[in-house]
Amino acid sequence: MTCVVYPGTFDPITNGHTDLVQRGAKLFDRVIVAVAASPSKTPRFDLETRVSLVTEVLKDLKNVTVMGFDGLLMDFVQSHQAQVVLRGLRAMSDFEFEFQLAGMNRHLAPDIETIFMTPSEKYAFISSSLVREVAALGGDVSRFVHPKVMAELTGIIK
Ligand code: COA
Repeated sequence: MTCVVYPGTFDPITNGHTDLVQRGAKLFDRVIVAVAASPSKTPRFDLETRVSLVTEVLKDLKNVTVMGFDGLLMDFVQSHQAQVVLRGLRAMSDFEFEFQLAGMNRHLAPDIETIFMTPSEKYAFISSSLVREVAALGGDVSRFVHPKVMAELTGIIK
């Protein structure tokens, strides 16, 4: 049984993340979506809210589990007996950071492989921070996030 971990801050989860999880769920027996505490990013939504939004958005995918974590990603991956880390690549601009991350993670845990997938082109230009900014300024981001996320974004603006 191959288990893949899809990590991220998910502040908040967007349709681009969901698209990638759906693709991963078709390829792997089990997908663990690992929501990082990421204190250095000072997330807009607390960890509990981010985990609960990701859980709600992905609830229909039977082989997907959602968990929050604090600490090293590689420790999390090994403690859940996963073999693979999945990351999304949207554009060349993602490559440099992802290359560094994959290299450091391989140094920490040589047996864990990182694989990359691309989301649907219609989500290639979105990011969580862009969605937050546009929503905060009154723009319509409903095409890019689940209705529950939309409600949460609207809640923080009011
Ligand atoms: N569609 C749309 N947007 C996407 C996307 C997709 N498929 N994939 C990524 N993004 C966006 C996110 O919305 C996010 O946007 P933002 O920067 O505006 O918030 C950005 O790309 C990157 O975010 P994400 O994929 O969530 O990754 P991250 O950089 O926040 O998370 C971790 C990186 C959590 C994997 C990394 O920090 C980590 O492993 N942390 C644990 C601690 C650790 O082990 N550190 C050492 C690592 S070597």
